[in-house]
Amino acid sequence: MAEQSSEPRQRDQHQGSDQVRPKVTVPSISEMKASGELIGMITAYDAAFAALVDQAGVDMILVGDSVGTVVQGRSNTVGVSLDEMSYHVRMVRRAEPKALVVGDLPFGSYQVSVEQSVVNAVSLLKAGAEAVKLEGGVTVADHIAAMTRFDIPVVGHIGLTPQSYHRMGGHKVQGRMRGTDAGQRDRLIEDAFAVEQAGAFALVIEGVPRELAGEITSKLSIPTIGIGAGPDCDGQVLVLHDVLGLSDMPLKFIKHYAELGAQTVAATRRYLAEVKDGTWPDDAHSYH
Ligand code: KIV
Repeated sequence: MAEQSSEPRQRDQHQGSDQVRPKVTVPSISEMKASGELIGMITAYDAAFAALVDQAGVDMILVGDSVGTVVQGRSNTVGVSLDEMSYHVRMVRRAEPKALVVGDLPFGSYQVSVEQSVVNAVSLLKAGAEAVKLEGGVTVADHIAAMTRFDIPVVGHIGLTPQSYHRMGGHKVQGRMRGTDAGQRDRLIEDAFAVEQAGAFALVIEGVPRELAGEITSKLSIPTIGIGAGPDCDGQVLVLHDVLGLSDMPLKFIKHYAELGAQTVAATRRYLAEVKDGTWPDDAHSYH
């Protein structure tokens, strides 16, 4: 059972300039659970946004296979390839973020065998990831153990695992029913322990009742990072496009902290209007 700090669980504000911010490492993420500092993670898929979210002071950048839905226009993440993930990891790496960069292993890149999972995790590390994430619990414990044996840091992911889209029948909240079948409550607790015992240094818990996420968090010694899992995890992750209002997923756990989608349409309309009425470009924006 993990020891719980009695200190208020607040996140440091990273008051200083980015130059003085130390590099976030795997050990420093582990220390955050021990000290009770909440972990802030967000996704990014390219150098420009990675630099911006890093400037904001996030602890971890997830190059998530959610790139498939929010960037590539797919309805789920199943079709995302390892080459695509490597490409996005390379772009994010070029921003040289202080945040820890986690690369997502896409569907089909680790399920076939333990050997396949190690080979493909190595390729994401060579592309610039500092850790990899994969979905599943007991079924991938051997894969996680093999990766961590070769010093590949691993983040687990249980609950609403988007790569299980077809098994779940869509993006459905998991863990509401007792039972040991995939996605059921007792199985998710078993999955969480399996991931920890296999050597993962953190665990994403997605789309489960907050009580279940809280129970798992209190029982594990590795940090849990929630998404749609309530406030009792050791940290939170959201998809960048959801945070910025660039997507329109009607999900309860999504919050727009900006409305860049609406602003993009409005700005493009203004630009287009000026092109059409001949006022763009004006003299001030022309060479002489
Ligand atoms: O791909 C992703 O962005 C994720 C998060 C939703 C945790 O896995």
